[in-house]
Amino acid sequence: MRKPIVAGNWKMNCTVAEASELASGVRGALARKVAAEVVICPPFTSLAAVAEILAGSVVRLGAQNVHWEGSGAFTGEISAGMLRDSKCSHAIVGHSERRTQCGETDSDVNRKAQALLDAGLVPIVCIGETLDERESGQTEAVLRGQIERSLNGIDERLRETVVAYEPVWAIGTGRTATSEQVQGAHAHIRATIEAMAGSGVAADVRIQYGGSVKPSNAAEIFACPDVDGGLIGGASLEAESFVRIVEAA
Ligand code: PGA
Repeated sequence: MRKPIVAGNWKMNCTVAEASELASGVRGALARKVAAEVVICPPFTSLAAVAEILAGSVVRLGAQNVHWEGSGAFTGEISAGMLRDSKCSHAIVGHSERRTQCGETDSDVNRKAQALLDAGLVPIVCIGETLDERESGQTEAVLRGQIERSLNGIDERLRETVVAYEPVWAIGTGRTATSEQVQGAHAHIRATIEAMAGSGVAADVRIQYGGSVKPSNAAEIFACPDVDGGLIGGASLEAESFVRIVEAA
């Protein structure tokens, strides 16, 4: 049985004071045990403050990016070991905003995911097609390519890896994929992983959906058989809406 995982991607939002308030709200509302694994991913500048707030709670801490090297002359970068030292258990890699705005490639994403696994952290590896790619019938091929390159060589450790399917056209647009589109893509992702790593691994890997998930549509999306929770952007910036999404999972 795969445990659903709901992660909040706060992106470039929140001062330390705002992040602390939001994290306290999430922690307070999820004080009792929840059925899903819950992660919040504040900006780097708030990790320390949020780590203190989450200490001893069921809510886990994640980062939004990482560098694949352990240390050295990489100005502005943060290593997986530093994230672990900052009490992170998870990190998002390959978000479409980083792929398009920062030129991150599948091979970068692969190195980042491997560095996280080596440091004992869970990578949340994002993939997804653009609207052009969907409309020209390339969705399956695009996803297959992203999976094969981004998850190359991870093999058995895919069991400790989370894949986030985020159609680029659904991120921050209010335009959610239909449950048929979501289930179709997730089944294709799982089949691609099966071809790479075998059916046992594919059955265990958790695949989140992301892209305009809200309290009003979460339950329907999470009910798809191959969907194992969600990666939540805008709706994770309010404790109440994020908690309602967690409850839907
Ligand atoms: P959204 O963002 O929920 O605001 O669409 C999702 C994401 O970018 O992870």
